[in-house]
Amino acid sequence: MTDESGTICRRLTGRTAVITGAGSGIGLATARRLASEGAHVVCGDIDESAGRAASEEAGGTFVRVDVTDPGQVEALFATAHETYGSVDIAFNNAGISPPEDDSILTTGLEAWKRVQDVNLTSVYLCCKAALPYMRRQGRGSIINTASFVARMGAATSQISYTASKGGVLALSRELGVQFAREGIRVNALCPGPVNTPLLQELFATDPERAARRLVHIPLGRFAEATEIAAAVAFLASDDSSFVNATDFLVDGGISGAYVTPLD
Ligand SMILES: NC(=O)c1ccc[n+]([C@@H]2O[C@H](COP(=O)([O-])OP(=O)(O)OC[C@H]3O[C@@H](n4cnc5c(N)ncnc54)[C@H](O)[C@@H]3O)[C@@H](O)[C@H]2O)c1
Repeated sequence: MTDESGTICRRLTGRTAVITGAGSGIGLATARRLASEGAHVVCGDIDESAGRAASEEAGGTFVRVDVTDPGQVEALFATAHETYGSVDIAFNNAGISPPEDDSILTTGLEAWKRVQDVNLTSVYLCCKAALPYMRRQGRGSIINTASFVARMGAATSQISYTASKGGVLALSRELGVQFAREGIRVNALCPGPVNTPLLQELFATDPERAARRLVHIPLGRFAEATEIAAAVAFLASDDSSFVNATDFLVDGGISGAYVTPLD
């Protein structure tokens, strides 16, 4: 990865990064980015073929993991430590937003619980598994993927998703405070809407729905996954050594906007 001056950016040389949900979207872009900055990347995903492809591309290691399963999550971090000798970065990123999770008026308890398990309980499990390694090392950076929706209300509700991401913010803040003096930073990452295949497909069939969202974004476009990955690389590196216990927004200004430019 080069910066604007053409300098090669290798902030993570020799560090070991565990990424969940590495097979697609933000996780995949981050696996590429962290590897390009010199990290050993351990790609965890429930989707074996996507996760394996990501790890091959990143020159790393694949571990099939269901992030809702405590034993599998422990094995993910143990593999990272056994393979590379440390666990320096945990990007706890896997998450889902299924269609059954909608307005509170129609969302059933099963759908609610499933989203809480994959989006919030998984982050608890991943932090719990990563922290012992980081405490022994006296060093570590944990980045938990939340979302801008945890900071704002939406009339197009996904009630359990929003609540799960709010939980990620509170959990990350608390851990960032608790472990700060042991050299471990914990931050929540709040991406705005990202240009993913799912989003493109949705908006191709319903342009009005796209326009309704785009109007709120000062930058007038969705994020690219590489832009979110760049923020993760910053939070993972020592360049962010005084950034801790934050809700790190990478949202194009949505959460700061009242009236946006017309064109
Ligand atoms: N895309 C957006 O607009 C956006 C915006 C804000 C926050 N986020 C959050 O960013 C994270 C990544 O989103 P994305 O858009 O890259 O999603 P994505 O669907 O492209 O990728 C998610 C990955 O997680 C994996 N996964 C799902 N359930 C899993 C499980 N139980 N165990 C292990 N792996 C599992 C999937 O196989 C997939 O590879 C999520 O937490 C999401 O909520 C996304």
